[in-house]
Order: sequence, then C-alpha cells, then structure tokens
Amino acid sequence: MKITVVGAGFVGATTAQRLAEKELGDIILHDIVEGMPQGKALDMMQSACLEGFDSEVKGTNDPADYAGSDIVVITSGLARQPGMSRDDLLAKNAEIVGGVADNVKKYAPEAIVIVVSNPLDVMTYLVAAKTGFPKHRVMGMAGVLDSARFRCFIAQELGVSHKDVEAMVLGSHGDDMVPLARYCTVSGIGIEALLPKDKIDAMIARTRGGGAEIVKLLQKGSAYYAPSSAAVQMVQSIVRDEKRVMPVAAYCTGQYGIKGQFVGVPVQLGRKGIEKIIELELTEDELKQLQVSAGHVAETVAALKL
Ligand code: LAC
Repeated sequence: MKITVVGAGFVGATTAQRLAEKELGDIILHDIVEGMPQGKALDMMQSACLEGFDSEVKGTNDPADYAGSDIVVITSGLARQPGMSRDDLLAKNAEIVGGVADNVKKYAPEAIVIVVSNPLDVMTYLVAAKTGFPKHRVMGMAGVLDSARFRCFIAQELGVSHKDVEAMVLGSHGDDMVPLARYCTVSGIGIEALLPKDKIDAMIARTRGGGAEIVKLLQKGSAYYAPSSAAVQMVQSIVRDEKRVMPVAAYCTGQYGIKGQFVGVPVQLGRKGIEKIIELELTEDELKQLQVSAGHVAETVAALKL
C-alpha cells in the first residue's frame, strides 16, 4: 500500500508516524515548505530500528510523488487560533485544499481520499467537486474524532476502561454536531442507564466544544494526537478491508433525508472506501438536529460559489 499524507504539520506528521508504526504501508509525506517534510521523514526513519517498523517514510515537496497512491490523507491548511470557529478558515483553506485536490486528481487518480482539513465537511465537498472522484472514494474525518472525545469523557466520568466505551457522533464537525447518547454504550450497557441526564448533557456540550477546548489550552494551533489517531483508524479499515462501522463525512444521496451533501453518518469502511451508509433509527428530534447540521454545511458550501 502507498499512502500519501499531504501537509506535514502536527496533524500530518503525527498521522505519518502512526501509519508507519502500524506498518499500514509506505508513506509519502508532502508539504510545500522546503526541507520540512524531508526532515520529519528522516527523523521518523531513524526511529524505525527502535520502534521496529519496516514502512518507508519519504518526505517531499513534489506532488508528482503522489503517483500510485492507494490512499491520500489531506491535512493541509491553517489550524484554528483561539476564538476562531472552523468556518473562519473557509476562504484560505478552500484555496489551499483546492490546490491539493487538483494535484490528487492529476497524480493519484485512483486514490481513496480522506480529508482532515477544516471546515471539514465543506472541504470534503470541495475535494469531491474538484477531483470528480466517485463519492465512495472521498470522505472526511471527523465523526471518529468527535466520537472518541465523547468516549473519553464517558470513560473518565464513569472511571471505566476507555476500551469498553462506544459512542456515535453524527452531523457536521462543528458546534451543531449530533452526539447520540442513545447509541453510547459501556460494554453494551446504554449510558442512559449509568449516568443522570444532566451529566450526559454536560458531556454532549463538552464534546461539541472538544476541539475549541484544546485550541484554547494550546493558544497556538489545534489538536493533533486524537485527530491523527482517528484518520489512521479510517486508513486501517480501508487498507485491511476491515469493514469497520464508524461515522465519517460521507456523501448522502437521500439517507436521513439529506441529499447531495457531505455530512457525518455511520458507514462501513473497506478496501473500496465507503461500502455502505448505515441508516440508524433516529427520533424526530435527533433527525432534525442532523438535518440542521447538514443545512449549515450546505450554506457554507454555497458560500464557496463552486
Ligand atoms: C479539532 C479540529 C481538528 O476538532 O477540528 O480538534
């Protein structure tokens, strides 16, 4: 497998490191900054004998090196600063990510593309529009990250193993994401049987602001450990054809009453990319929240004037 990571900042470089350590393929780490991806790749390769991996990581400034990639992970763009919403990044990141999409189309026309840049759902739409790739080969990473944050808060609140907690967060990667408490479990036990409503509501609010909480603490830049883990879990499900079920920003064609939009919904992820969108039974209120979230994405996409 050949996996290209575009953008060698904190998210991109950590993604490349995790991919190499899991030996999911050989990795191209691309950035426009001269020397930076090469330096980080060289540093990673010098850890190979210590960590015991045989993946090759190559740093480059040349998009022609994407050629033959099975998967491309796009992390390019500016990160949020304190007080900024993900939508505040729209114009600048559309320019950057649009350029990356042109290169992916030119050099890696067969690749499955995972978009990580913000505003996530809109950038995923942009990449799909610019590349013209079949929609099952273009997706955005956000639901896995938002669900991981919810899972972390639940595990910490209950004092149980993080491994036993499952959660499902749908919708856009923004303030109106839809954490579904009804679908959160601890080893199969619904959290609504384990926690009072006010505690669950507080965790839902914290999940919605999960990215901003970290931006505020870091003061410069945004999260990258969990975002890279989430992207790598998606890559792994594709590379190993695991067919795992996870929420990703996927192109909806009428599911949940959403048409022609990328928004976070549960999918089955395998070697072909998105192999199936799973339609959960939602309450009227949950469905409405999801549709409002999708509506917000549609408005931002419209502002791009593609
Ligand atoms: C976050 C950024 C990556 O949620 O959107 O941390």
